Amino acid sequence: MAKSSEPDLMEKLVSLCKRRGFIFQSSEIYGGLNALWDYGPMGVELKRNIKDIWWEAMTQLRDDIEGLDASIIMHPKVWEASGHVQNFTDPLVDCKKCKQRFRADQVEGKKCPNCGGELTEARLFNLMFKTYLGPVEDQASIAYLRPETAQGIYVNFLNVLGPSRQKIPFGIAQIGKAFRNEISPGNFIFRTREFEQMEMQFFIHPKEDSKWLEYWREERFKWYINLGVKKENLKLHQHDDKELAHYAKMAYDIEYNFPFGWKEIEGIHNRTDFDLTQHSKFSGKDLTYFDDATKERFIPYIIETSAGVDRSMLVFLVDAYHEEEVKGEKRVSLKLSPKIAPVKVAVLPLVNRDNMPEVATKIFHDLKKHFKSFYDDGGAIGRRYRRQDEIGTPYALTVDSQTLQDNTVTLRDRDSMEQVRVNTSQLVDVIKKKLG
Ligand code: GAP
Repeated sequence: MAKSSEPDLMEKLVSLCKRRGFIFQSSEIYGGLNALWDYGPMGVELKRNIKDIWWEAMTQLRDDIEGLDASIIMHPKVWEASGHVQNFTDPLVDCKKCKQRFRADQVEGKKCPNCGGELTEARLFNLMFKTYLGPVEDQASIAYLRPETAQGIYVNFLNVLGPSRQKIPFGIAQIGKAFRNEISPGNFIFRTREFEQMEMQFFIHPKEDSKWLEYWREERFKWYINLGVKKENLKLHQHDDKELAHYAKMAYDIEYNFPFGWKEIEGIHNRTDFDLTQHSKFSGKDLTYFDDATKERFIPYIIETSAGVDRSMLVFLVDAYHEEEVKGEKRVSLKLSPKIAPVKVAVLPLVNRDNMPEVATKIFHDLKKHFKSFYDDGGAIGRRYRRQDEIGTPYALTVDSQTLQDNTVTLRDRDSMEQVRVNTSQLVDVIKKKLG
């Protein structure tokens, strides 16, 4: 079913995320902070798995991409060169009556959507967070929290190129926090003021830009499908001239069918030689590349893939959310791909006696060396299964009276709810195989 036809899905998901320890409002005991979120025990595992799988796909499994972890605060000139000081703005209007602020392009007509009051003329508002470096708060010490991780890669282009001995085409990948003082944040973790990006910049010969843009568009689209996102909920959107960012020649968004509409989850951009040219100009450093084979010197073009960690996480959660009726009761489960599920296997003694907890504890200690495992002996077994279903645990094993006789346990599949008996000596292999 199309997610956009389930308007209350977001409410259910936000409630599940709070109840099961995925996501909490930031500083909740102080009333919370708008557009900032904290990730709890389950959320942090899910987030880490998403990042690890991206990192594996983009660096470990490729010989042509190197990793980087640049600082969040960079030289202020970086943001002049990149165009962010001048261009990273949204038009903003204020209501003269209730004082609320809105993005001008999201208000229809000249009246305040909140109280009907008169609106001011639009003025440009820069989305970068400002801070000061050092003890003196003056113009000369202004610095910015990075609004994208990409610039850390561009300014390190030569630093990485040298030691890695890569040749064009090659890429640099980075995962890290970015900050934007969004005027209209919202939709849970979709648009926040502090978020993480997984970005990869691929340096190429200018003549090959179309080829590599198509290549990365396909690769990145497949990534979501391989992690279980339903194909019908994903599509590509090509930017028209009005949508293109100031640095881009051509761009695609990968969009997801959220309950609040089709929205961008990742951008694939042809940034041309814009960034390296700008940094050459502003830093005075030669950022050209010399091709030994062709004896050609040129400024590489860049194809960028830019995904949000938090936004991908929302995609995986929304897409996995599933409700059904089982024996007259509602069952909620997160059908997350086992690759990203926060817990891979739950270990449950059927009852809290007859040596079952002791046997189950021993199995748990063995399994946790191999997979993120969870031991639970609290409450009726049905309720314990439901708790695991709600956090998306793909497998739950139960120690019962038969275990004590023949060393087998039941292994329950989250989605089919089918149970098979497996000998404890084979558990690690069987689960490993199932996890893929
Ligand atoms: N370096 C290019 C760049 O930053 P972008 O389209 O502005 O491009 C890329 O952002 C991705 O970062 C988005 O597709 C989204 O997944 C994520 N993102 C951007 N702003 C965000 C926000 N305020 N909250 C959460 N994620 C955000």
